[in-house]
Amino acid sequence: DGDAVATLRTPIVAVLGHVDHGKTTLLDRIRGSTVTEGEAGAITQHIGATAVPLETVSELAGSLVDPTDFDLPGLLFIDTPGHHSFSTLRSRGGALADIAVLVVDVNDGFQPQTIEAIDILQRTETPFVVAANKIDTVPGWNPQGDVPIQESYDAQSDRARETLDERLYELIGELADHDFSADMYWRVQNFANNVGVVPTSAETGEGVPDVLTVLMGLSQRYLKDAMAIDVEGPGAGTVLEVKDQKGFGTAIDVVLYDGTVRADDTVVVGSTGEPIVTDVRALLQPRPLAEIRTEKRFEQVDAVSAAAGLKIAAPDLDDAMAGAPVRVVRDRSREEVVQEVQEELAAIGVTTEEEGVVVKADTLGSLEAVANTLEEAEIPIVRAEVGDVAPRDVTVASTADEERHETVLAFSVDVLDNAEQQADEGDIRIFESDVIYRLVEEYEEFIAERER
Ligand code: GTP
Ligand code: MG
Repeated sequence: DGDAVATLRTPIVAVLGHVDHGKTTLLDRIRGSTVTEGEAGAITQHIGATAVPLETVSELAGSLVDPTDFDLPGLLFIDTPGHHSFSTLRSRGGALADIAVLVVDVNDGFQPQTIEAIDILQRTETPFVVAANKIDTVPGWNPQGDVPIQESYDAQSDRARETLDERLYELIGELADHDFSADMYWRVQNFANNVGVVPTSAETGEGVPDVLTVLMGLSQRYLKDAMAIDVEGPGAGTVLEVKDQKGFGTAIDVVLYDGTVRADDTVVVGSTGEPIVTDVRALLQPRPLAEIRTEKRFEQVDAVSAAAGLKIAAPDLDDAMAGAPVRVVRDRSREEVVQEVQEELAAIGVTTEEEGVVVKADTLGSLEAVANTLEEAEIPIVRAEVGDVAPRDVTVASTADEERHETVLAFSVDVLDNAEQQADEGDIRIFESDVIYRLVEEYEEFIAERER
């Protein structure tokens, strides 16, 4: 309720890294859940958000954190899909995250998405810590459970320790190659100039207390001023997903990164057409430690302050677009806020050509990611939109000059029955997948096959 509005905003922590390096598992370890097991192909497809209160952080961090040293309310973790360019994670043209954890598999080292993530961190000047993950796979490793890394390290054989050290120094070298001076986190004196590396196992829990400690330390030390915002001001956020919410109609999952949204507010939401102006019907908040992507039980609340993941139920949200901005109007003019939303949407673009394939995806971020992947594969796009495959998409595909472009690539969306029928009749291929690179691979294989 109104009085409970915090004066320091919760920092937003992005968890970034290459596919399968252990981002979701690390978060599962922190929340005590098993989100990884329920994922299609065990790959994260959508951005999620989980609020971790300070009590939990200090419980997990054990002796490493004294909660009385901290006055930030906790951390809001954002899980990202490793194989996406995480373009949905933007706010006012910058990065949505205040700090980040870059997860790197110690065996695999730097991989394409690691480099992509590090470039984004560099460009947006986001402080981060490196979790050198999967240390339990070092030959001869003797797992110790969720203890601080020093304790686990001391319990290892000389050989296991040497192997780990070698890999960690390779990682530190790779960070140096990308212009980051890095060291083991316990040796870092000044986190503003040096990146701390924390050896972890998301599987066994070793080093997880250390990651949380460094994150709390980093936020407390470097973000306190930035977190001291007017959290009661008009809320601003990003749509993660548009979903039907039982008993409430269409609702949007939102990461609120600024201000407050109240149950009696009017909001402007970016859509596939004109921005939607609508009155909030209900605000639903997941329980602490719950992943908003998978949570079933929500509490209806009067107000939510940044940073937080929440659901906003309101009329007319059907065309709301994942990845688009959400703004509370409050005491400003609607026109002003609508224009703000339009300008932000215009900055997120996919380039289309006169000739090419049709692409449909479930979010602006995934649409951008599919478009990037197609661009790398030199496959042109004639039409790119968020939403299910509809008859008009098939119509557009059928007007292609080249036979190889008479296709619709559908990422994580449904194909409407009449669209399917029209495609069958017109011999238009629709490729569907929940995994971007598979979608593009299947298309390329089909073309290669046909042109043989
Ligand atoms: P994407 O969401 O697809 O980008 O992957 P991710 O980074 O979230 O990886 P995820 O957490 O799904 O883990 C990938 C696989 O690695 C799973 O099978 C995990 O069980 C395993 N894994 C993650 N962390 C560890 C670890 O510390 N040790 C070991 N042995 N396995 C791990
Ligand atoms: Mg994941």
